[in-house]
Amino acid sequence: MPAIVIVGAQWGDEGKGKATDLLGSSVDYVVKFNGGNNAGHTVVVDDQTYALHLLPSGILTPGVVPVIGNGVVVDLDVLFEEIDGLETRGVDTSRLVISANAHLIAPYNRVLDKVTERFLGSRRIGTTGRGIGPTYADKMNRIGIRVQDLFDEKILQQKVEGALELKNQVLAKIYNRRAVEVDEILDGLLAHADRVRPMVADTALLLDAALTRGDVVLLEAGQATLLDVDHGTYPFVTSSSATAGGACTGSGIPPNRIDRVVAILKAYTTRVGEGPFPTELHDDAGELLRKTGHEYGTTTGRPRRCGWFDAVIARYAARVNGVTDFVLTKLDVLTGLEKVPVCVAYDVDGVRHAEMPMTQTEFHHATPVFEELPGWWEDISLCRRLKDLPANAQSYVRTVEEMAGAPVSVVGVGPGRDACVVLRDLA
Ligand code: IMP
Repeated sequence: MPAIVIVGAQWGDEGKGKATDLLGSSVDYVVKFNGGNNAGHTVVVDDQTYALHLLPSGILTPGVVPVIGNGVVVDLDVLFEEIDGLETRGVDTSRLVISANAHLIAPYNRVLDKVTERFLGSRRIGTTGRGIGPTYADKMNRIGIRVQDLFDEKILQQKVEGALELKNQVLAKIYNRRAVEVDEILDGLLAHADRVRPMVADTALLLDAALTRGDVVLLEAGQATLLDVDHGTYPFVTSSSATAGGACTGSGIPPNRIDRVVAILKAYTTRVGEGPFPTELHDDAGELLRKTGHEYGTTTGRPRRCGWFDAVIARYAARVNGVTDFVLTKLDVLTGLEKVPVCVAYDVDGVRHAEMPMTQTEFHHATPVFEELPGWWEDISLCRRLKDLPANAQSYVRTVEEMAGAPVSVVGVGPGRDACVVLRDLA
């Protein structure tokens, strides 16, 4: 079972850590293939809590090679801040490998991310403000700066000059900000060049060799299906490919080497940032989910928007990712409810939609059609087999599985690393 992709099925923060923990020692490589330091995962190892934004979670597992793939955008300041933070706590980060083709987040793109949001006003996306969108835009616009450019000063200078010709016009003339000096950018980037150099490799070649040897490669998506730039709720999305297809383009591993696609699905739904969210709750029930589920952003600390489980989205995620296994997380958060509403379809201006509507306008008009499932009161955090769960919790799992159209292989029943019911091994 050499290449496994892990994606989020909803709008992120579904709790991928559960799945990566379960795969644990069977994994040789953990590859981040999209996004940058807009992600946030909190990993608890031996009572120590680590908040990572850019580094792949595999950095904390001895023996695993963490890889930052070509599809990632790298902020070098953040990279070394995270590395230094881990090293001072005794974590060995020397195995980290970074693709020579990954793009760098230049300081002007951090500025542009923030000023663009302000400029958009009520149409803002609610970005994390880390420069992600403008850096991917530069990549597509072919004015991006890549990791490998750090090793050719002449080329780097040409590229920075070229980018700033455009960026300074935008910064000064549209946003009334200070123009940026070429030398200021060059100095900032080159300050990291020597330190980053030993970490840089042709990661696609490295991963090809690993797979040929029979090593297990885990490709871990940042963000999630509905934040994917193509398949998400555009324009309220991130700027990279967060679905399973992105695992190939963002790593250089071809589709026919992917064996399993594991999607993490929360037992209810959350979202940070702006954009449509049909099952969102604005009442006490939403507050209850937020409090019980500790739904506050890891990167920005923002309270997450909360709502009931949405089967239309789960079905969509199963389809666009080719999901082979769902990991249903945070089932325990629903404990104590008399009835658990589940959205089975949308009503769009009087028309029932069992699948994601075709247009953004329809999705904005979608109101959920709920079915109520019977709840349970028993503490489920110590359950380890499906039959240990209360009958109504078991039937919640089975109903979700049926509606989503792919098997649930793991159910998360509590915050602890081992707090899960495993129905089928992930590797
Ligand atoms: P950006 O990725 O900073 O450009 O933000 C675009 C949208 O994606 C915003 O709604 C963010 O809140 C959302 N987003 C980005 N990264 C994450 C994540 O790791 N979890 C949840 N939402 C995210």
